[in-house]
Amino acid sequence: MQDEPIDKNVILEELSKLHELDCNYGDGRILGSMCTEAHPFAKEVYCKFLDTNLGDPGLFKGTKSIENKVIESIGELLSLDSAYGNIVTGGTEANLMAIRAARNHARKYKGIVDGEIIIPKSAHFSFKKAADMLNLKIVEAQLDENYKIDVESLKEVISDRTVAIVAIAGTTELGLIDPIEEISQIAFEKNIYFHVDAAFGGFSIPFLKQRGYDLPDFDFSLLGVCSITVDPHKMGLAPIPAGGIIFRKEEYLEVMAVDSPYLTVKTQSTIVGTRLGASSAATYAVMKYFGRKGYCDLAEDLMKTTRFFYDGLVEIGYDVVCEPELNIVAFNHPDMETNELAQKLEKLDWKVSVAKCPKSIRVVLMNHIKMNHIKELLEDLKEIY
Ligand SMILES: Cc1ncc(COP(=O)(O)O)c(C=O)c1O
Repeated sequence: MQDEPIDKNVILEELSKLHELDCNYGDGRILGSMCTEAHPFAKEVYCKFLDTNLGDPGLFKGTKSIENKVIESIGELLSLDSAYGNIVTGGTEANLMAIRAARNHARKYKGIVDGEIIIPKSAHFSFKKAADMLNLKIVEAQLDENYKIDVESLKEVISDRTVAIVAIAGTTELGLIDPIEEISQIAFEKNIYFHVDAAFGGFSIPFLKQRGYDLPDFDFSLLGVCSITVDPHKMGLAPIPAGGIIFRKEEYLEVMAVDSPYLTVKTQSTIVGTRLGASSAATYAVMKYFGRKGYCDLAEDLMKTTRFFYDGLVEIGYDVVCEPELNIVAFNHPDMETNELAQKLEKLDWKVSVAKCPKSIRVVLMNHIKMNHIKELLEDLKEIY
């Protein structure tokens, strides 16, 4: 750091130049991100709550009550009357909390010390971080030919050390929904903690179902489901960082509680101490602003763009990996290696993302990708062909 203060305008100029190097959602060129530009109203509210700290909720009682209301609303969206949980930084932290709750619960009530978590091969890498931090072993369940959890393979790997089973509602690479009802039944019968990672699908599936889309149940209406991750900063249009972790029972928060002596509350269950109230306030605002109807419209619009892209790809002869269930389309050129196609698209200034399983180009049709961008992309793909 330099010794003398620097004029604000000089600093801003430097920052603006660096900011110009960033990609811009508005260009419609970011094809692989699960985030998008937050709604302007949510950003406005976020700024008003920048100094609030939910790590010390006794000092910010109003903002804490906003977090409680958001958790209640998301819980209601997920068929839960009394929801417990927190607005956190994103899906990673939400998944970490869920796995920590499961581990501590199993340790306390079943005496499991060398725990294992069963995750599908399609799970987000955040579970690898969670297992590493919590000293748990990862056991992978295989996928079936439709890239969803193979339930038989899952049953085979359940053991006395299983502290949690994880399934995904909206996989990161393909946007697919695992057979959650079936897995919930197994977890319920075997009394194993069951976590659903709906970081991506949580702000979309309930609304699409409401509009009549034929999607499977994935939420707390299924008795085995103990917790769900839902990210407002993805299709919820809340500013980054906003993830949500919702628990069925308060005891899952209780098993994570540690004493917090110098604060206004006696215990804390979250991973981070000082934490943003702004994320809760902005999420509250954007959820109120859209309401169910607004989110239904948004989710349906995304699916229309998705369908348009899917049909366009099929028409020009690309191999599409699967019928999209949510707003992700993954595809390959019939005669070109995936990396080569990715490089060609990058040269044309598309910010692409390559999926691993199966290897393919994956496009996440977030709100910043409009019909004109898709038409342009299809034109480029046709030329490459
Ligand atoms: C299914 C799923 N879970 C968890 C995450 C992690 O979310 P975040 O990047 O907000 O931590 C992602 C991110 O894309 C995801 O797709």
